[in-house]
Amino acid sequence: MHTAATKAKDPELPALNGLPYLAFPSNETCALDSDAICYDLWQQYSMPKNIQDHSKLVANVAWQIAQRVLDAGIKINVDLVRQSALLHDLGKAYSLEYGGSHAVLGAAWVVAATGNYALAQGVLYHVYWPWDLPEGPAICSLPIIVLYADKRAKHADCVTLEEREEDLLLRYGSNPSSRKLMAKGFEQIRNIERALSDCLDWGDLDAYSFDSRRLVN
Ligand SMILES: [Fe+2]
Repeated sequence: MHTAATKAKDPELPALNGLPYLAFPSNETCALDSDAICYDLWQQYSMPKNIQDHSKLVANVAWQIAQRVLDAGIKINVDLVRQSALLHDLGKAYSLEYGGSHAVLGAAWVVAATGNYALAQGVLYHVYWPWDLPEGPAICSLPIIVLYADKRAKHADCVTLEEREEDLLLRYGSNPSSRKLMAKGFEQIRNIERALSDCLDWGDLDAYSFDSRRLVN
């Protein structure tokens, strides 16, 4: 059992506001041996080609942000971030057909298949971060990076937050209550972008196009 006492012994791992520290046991912050395991899971859960292409872009964006985090001297596992992003929409096809939360479903499948809770966090929280945003370098954490990367990917195109918001409003903003919920998410993602930009000294983050030549294969 990882407790607050354990947390104090390992100051290098950022504590996330509201997120139980036991979600970050050090032996589970390892990445998978290969991205091929993610691609096998795509096949196993019948991920359509368009969601695969979208996931590759999200992984590319998340991976590049994680590299900048590492360059800034903040501890992060860049392979784990990329793999979590590759899996973030694992439950999407199923939930489109049968309903339910694709984030919760996908995260459960990732845990069942890999036993890696850190990997599953990017899947579980890629729609909305349910607590106050972490402060300081902890904003540069796996689930926040995957969440942000997903909001920069409109299908398989890298876009600004504004373009992505317009797309989401068109697709899902059919009634006042969904629009109200989405406005909350838009506000959060803009706060995340501002915090990441400040933390990484990345002034043009919103305009940055994340070079497609570095796409994950
Ligand atoms: Fe996505």
